[in-house]
This record gives sequence, C-alpha cells and structure tokens, in this order.
Amino acid sequence: METNLDWASLPFGYVPTDYNVRCTYRDGKWGDIEVSQSETINMHMAATCLHYGQEVFEGLKAFRGKDGKIRIFRLKENAKRIRSSAEGLVMEPIPEDLFLKMCVMAVKLNERFVPPYGSGASLYLRPLEIGMTPRVGVSPASEYMFIIFVSPVGPYFKSGFGTTSICITRDYDRVAPKGTGRFKTGGNYAASLKAGMTAKDKGYSAVLFLDPREKKYLDECGPANFFAIKNGVYITPASDSILPSITNMSLQQLAKDMGIPVEARHIPVEELAEVDEAAACGTAAVASPIGYIDDLDKNVRYVIAKDGKPGPITTKLYNALRAIQLGEVEDIHGWNHVMGI
Ligand code: PLP
Ligand code: COI
Repeated sequence: METNLDWASLPFGYVPTDYNVRCTYRDGKWGDIEVSQSETINMHMAATCLHYGQEVFEGLKAFRGKDGKIRIFRLKENAKRIRSSAEGLVMEPIPEDLFLKMCVMAVKLNERFVPPYGSGASLYLRPLEIGMTPRVGVSPASEYMFIIFVSPVGPYFKSGFGTTSICITRDYDRVAPKGTGRFKTGGNYAASLKAGMTAKDKGYSAVLFLDPREKKYLDECGPANFFAIKNGVYITPASDSILPSITNMSLQQLAKDMGIPVEARHIPVEELAEVDEAAACGTAAVASPIGYIDDLDKNVRYVIAKDGKPGPITTKLYNALRAIQLGEVEDIHGWNHVMGI
C-alpha cells in the first residue's frame, strides 16, 4: 500500500510505520526475534534503563537508490559501535549477526516507508538496547531488550545543505573527560539538552562542545562530529570524549580518495579564525555546512562561510557521500548493504 507522505518536506522526526522488531536477552541467551506492531514497551518500573541509564542506541539510514534497490549504509560499523557502547555500560553486547538480521528485517517489513530516489529523504533506523531487570541497588541488569524501529526522515537541520550557525559555551559539558562520550547512550544526550535548548533559544542550531578537561579544544557539534577545511586539509578533533562518527570516518576516507590530506588532532578554539570551511557531520546531519560560530563567552564571531554558502570541498565531500549512499557511483569501499528485496 502506498503511503501518503510528502517525502520532500519530511522533517527529522518520528513517523509511525508498520512494524518494529524486538529480541530479548534472558537466562544467558538471546531469544527469538519478534515482529511487533506495538509502539510501546511493557517494563518493570524498577528496570535499570529507567533508573541507572542502561540504554544504548544507534542511528543509521537506508536509501532507495537510482537503480530502485535499497541500501543500508555502513551496517557493520553500527553493529560494532553498539557493541562497544553496550560494553561501556556493562550491558549485554548484541551479536553482529543478530544486529544485521534485525536491521534488514526492520527495513524489509517497512519497505513502503523507504522514501523514493530523488526525494532527498531516507529511512532512519533507530536500534536501541535497554536494561530490563528490576534493581534498586546500582548494578547492571541480567535481562536486556533490543528493539529496532524505523522512521522516514528529512534533513536534521532546517537549513538542509544550506549554512547554519553554531555557538560555543563553557557553561555546560555533555560528558566528562573519562566519561561516556565515546558511547552512544541516552545520558550524554540528557546532559546536552540544557545547552542545546539555550542555543536554540538564541537562534543557533547546535552547540559546539569543547573538551571537558581544559575547554581549550573543539570536541563535537551537538548530535554530530565537527570537521573543517584549512588550507586544503581536512581537520577534525581527536578526542576521547566524542562519539566516533561513522559519517566522519567515511568523509575522511572520501577526502583521502580525493587527495585531500586528513588530520585528526586537537583543534584549539582560536584556530577557527583560520579555517576556510566547517561542517557538522553525522548520520542525521550528513554534512551540514556552518556559516559562522559564535563564542558566547569571549564575544567572538568566527565567520566561516564569508559568502554565506557551503564551501567547495564540503560540497564535493557531501556529493560524494550521497552518490555512494544512493548507488549513483561504484561503492568501492563496500560500505552499502544492498537489500535483496
Ligand atoms: N556525535 C554524536 C553525539 C552523535 O549523536 C552522532 C550521531 O550519531 C554523531 C556524532 C555522528 O555519528 P554518526 O556519523 O555515526 O552518525
Ligand atoms: C544520528 O545522527 O544518528 C543521531 O543519532 C543524531 C541524533 C538524532 C541523536
């Protein structure tokens, strides 16, 4: 059955679809995969996910390609990362084959929600794992639920591939220096909400967080990593307190393929005055070009896009990434899982 969605004007949000898939880890093993039509979860009020934050999640996208085939981008990397996040929060790691199988099932079951080629939209997959055991003392659960729901989405920032503005503030940290920044867990996002909402109230799309130890170096950009182009070099923060972005990793590879040198290193805030282009990158953000960055504490505006337009290298990288995701060019690195629907 056709959907009556207006694909081209979809925001980045939740749209109900036909099914989600679930699997429970109990008595030391993962059970059978359940296909569900329910949008709710029944759980004990003392479940560890509710009290002690035992929750990890992922975000990845499926695209309808030029050839009509559906491609899921970098499925195995997301499988790897959710395992690492689970281990970081003392949760049961999800076997790679279970993760892959459930992602493919979730897309297949909701095939009619995969936006058409050319619409600019995609199907976002949101896998999440939660601790289900009732505990009052602080200790990890022995039972876990793994769920994947999907939602057709448009651009994360309203500007799409137009430039957006970002701010720096030292009033809040999202994570601690040796904390959970490397893991994709709800607590990091809870800790970022105050800063994010304050920034939005002031008209910015996101906060560019600084390293939480010294507040000297750039860390990451709200729900995305950060990169800049300086004298033809792709520079991106090296930090233990940021999420290892799969999009950033892919863009770095594409940059190298284009002969653009890549440097992952500490980037002092003041170096923003010397960059030619900058962008927030992530599954949701793709590569969102940044127009200017305001350092609210120092009262300094770093104007990045002097003409207000996305820079040439960011545009080239964005186009190269999209072309692979949409099956317009050969996937030389084997990043797509092509579905056999
Ligand atoms: N950093 C944070 C905090 C994120 O939430 C995300 C989104 O997943 C990213 C970076 C980008 O990571 P990826 O490119 O793997 O989506
Ligand atoms: C993503 O890019 O997949 C994210 O998870 C970002 C955000 C919506 C949390």
